[in-house]
Amino acid sequence: METEPLPSILAPHQKARWKTNQDGIWTLDGSRVDEVPARSILTTLWDQPRWLEAYHLYDQRGSDLFEQICQLAEYYLTRTENSILEAQAAAIIAAAPVECIVELGAGYSKKTIHLLTEQLRQRDKGIFAPIDVSESGLLASREAVARDFPRLEFHGLHARYEDGFTSIEQAVPTLFVFLGSTVGNFNHSDFPRFFRALSEAMGPKDYLLLGADRIKDTTLLEQAYNDSQGLTAQFILNVFCHINNLLGSNFDLAKMRYHARFNSEWQQIEMYAIAEQRHRVSFPTVETSFEWQKDEKILVEISRKFDPQRLQEQLRFFDLLPIEHFTDANQWFSVLLFRKQG
Ligand code: AVJ
Repeated sequence: METEPLPSILAPHQKARWKTNQDGIWTLDGSRVDEVPARSILTTLWDQPRWLEAYHLYDQRGSDLFEQICQLAEYYLTRTENSILEAQAAAIIAAAPVECIVELGAGYSKKTIHLLTEQLRQRDKGIFAPIDVSESGLLASREAVARDFPRLEFHGLHARYEDGFTSIEQAVPTLFVFLGSTVGNFNHSDFPRFFRALSEAMGPKDYLLLGADRIKDTTLLEQAYNDSQGLTAQFILNVFCHINNLLGSNFDLAKMRYHARFNSEWQQIEMYAIAEQRHRVSFPTVETSFEWQKDEKILVEISRKFDPQRLQEQLRFFDLLPIEHFTDANQWFSVLLFRKQG
């Protein structure tokens, strides 16, 4: 195998940690990004209330269902954010004079294309480096970039977000892109941990583009998570099929139902699985089990909604200075541009 030159976007002291076995895809030496320790699932399932970390939703079936959700009429998030980026990509790229675009999430959605197109139009060159735990997503992204943007340099980082962004060379002016309101999944401990780590990893010429869903009419919000086709219910309950596959457990989808509601005090959609009858759930590989009581809820996902001004104020305390705020005509979604305080 040819040894590829290490990409210039990786910090020198980090380079030794990364290896490649596929053209343009880098992975951390010795790490298993797809490893899901049974413990991390069991610790949250034994919590009160029981809950799960949202990233378990994205097995192959979950990722397919999420793609379908994004096409739903009720699910305004994806198309609204895309329309903002389509209209504002030129302004965003002009405001962020960077050489490199690092996307958290495999990207190569329609919305990323707007940014890549503008980067080439305004600067004639650039590096695109998506970070994702899905290798298939990165490979698809690599093929699409090679086809549509042959002048862009591509490096896919097969890693968790934090392992990826802490390895990016601070001297290369970089726009970090975190779209889709994925930030809405972060709970009150994930949120500060993520922004502190990201901000510390950023260099003085770096920018952050953040997509955040906004607080709005409760009916509109609740409809987006209670679609008429039942796709969201399938997406949320599918997490139990995934866990059964991982841990050999016996969650029974016939004995549970989906419930989503907007918690106005916490300003978040809460997506639950509720037991329709009491039953025991066993985990043979770790020799443990619990009684899932009738009507007891397991919190599978939260989707926080934001006030963009308040989010801007808050991120100042992580040395991220607000420089632009883009929204849609309905003010349903915000795309916020920050720069790292140098
Ligand atoms: C990918 C986290 C932004 O919260 O709207 C969609 C996930 N869950 N429908 C969201 C989701 C149910 C989505 N995020």
